Amino acid sequence: QVFFKPITNAAPPSSTKRQTKISVIGAGNVGMAIAQTILTQDLTDELVLVDAKPDKLRGEMLDLQHAAAFLPRTKIHASVDYAVTAGSDLCIVTAGARQIADESRLNLLQRNVSMFKNIIPHLVRYSPDSTLLIVSNPVDILTYVAWKLSGFPSNRVIGSGTNLDSSRFRFLIADHLDVNAQDVQAYIVGEHGDSSVALWSSISVGGVPVLSFLENQQIVYEKETLESIHKAVIDSAYEVISLKGYTSWAIGYSVASLARSILRDQRKIHPVSVLAKGFYGIEDGEVFLSLPAQLGRGGVLGVTNVHLNDEESQRLRDSAKTILEVQTQLGI
Ligand code: NAD
Ligand code: LAC
Repeated sequence: QVFFKPITNAAPPSSTKRQTKISVIGAGNVGMAIAQTILTQDLTDELVLVDAKPDKLRGEMLDLQHAAAFLPRTKIHASVDYAVTAGSDLCIVTAGARQIADESRLNLLQRNVSMFKNIIPHLVRYSPDSTLLIVSNPVDILTYVAWKLSGFPSNRVIGSGTNLDSSRFRFLIADHLDVNAQDVQAYIVGEHGDSSVALWSSISVGGVPVLSFLENQQIVYEKETLESIHKAVIDSAYEVISLKGYTSWAIGYSVASLARSILRDQRKIHPVSVLAKGFYGIEDGEVFLSLPAQLGRGGVLGVTNVHLNDEESQRLRDSAKTILEVQTQLGI
């Protein structure tokens, strides 16, 4: 019995249109913010949620499915069984412990590494050709862990990294200069966290390089103001966590922007956590940290050669050292 009468002699549906499938592992604050942004932005044909708590998972799935009349058509599934993720193009991992007020991201490491040893092999088994996008903290080290556990080529293992910090940075600069954040080009690179590096020398607004403009106009070079903006970026997550308990909306939009660039082959440049060895003078160890990377259907397509002054280069190498010191204690 069909609800409507089919058209006779219709051509069969074209099989050339590729269906896309995204799996989000961890249906907590972050996973659900990502899921809902992906749905509202129509980024996939199929969205899968996996979590360890079956009731919470089913509740979240139903709640999203009940919005079907207001959203682009997307199949939504959820299960504690990873078989549901089979054939995913993109697996986004948000499962894991999160910080409490004033706790550092690095403090979460041991708990979340154990969890990754359970999660990553399932994703590899069911979606061997997917790209892994890691969000759980500490994101840089967990991206390295996911790379090691998966055996995937490094271009298909990406950490959400400082895409979020850079958005916070652009917001604060835009606020300071009273312009639109989308007109501000500015990168935070290095660790997503306390040792991140602000690339002041390459900031531009509407194509105008900010530092050289201020110097040419002989406007007092406000080094302290600049440093305080970077400090505010570092403090952002701590502030939000102390106020509402967790961060979610901004990371939701940040990760959706990465999903779009990867699945729609946008070839857009994002500061994300990539295998950094060989770039910007980082030679020691296999460390993942954020660099401005071009993203497309193959994952990481390349790393942009942004000019760094001596101080910025040194800070980036220090950030790599900080991550590497923690990483070498893992024994993975
Ligand atoms: P949350 O506690 O709300 O959610 C975590 C979810 O993971 C829970 O639903 C839990 O049931 C699930 N989970 C736990 N163990 C699991 C397992 N073995 N398999 C599947 N699911 C499992 O936490 P949250 O606020 O959503 O934060 C999640 C993670 O994201 C944290 O590590 C947090 O620090 C990180 N985070 C990262 C960024 C970033 O920019 N990279 C931003 C915000 C939060
Ligand atoms: C953030 C998380 C906590 O919002 O890493 O920056």
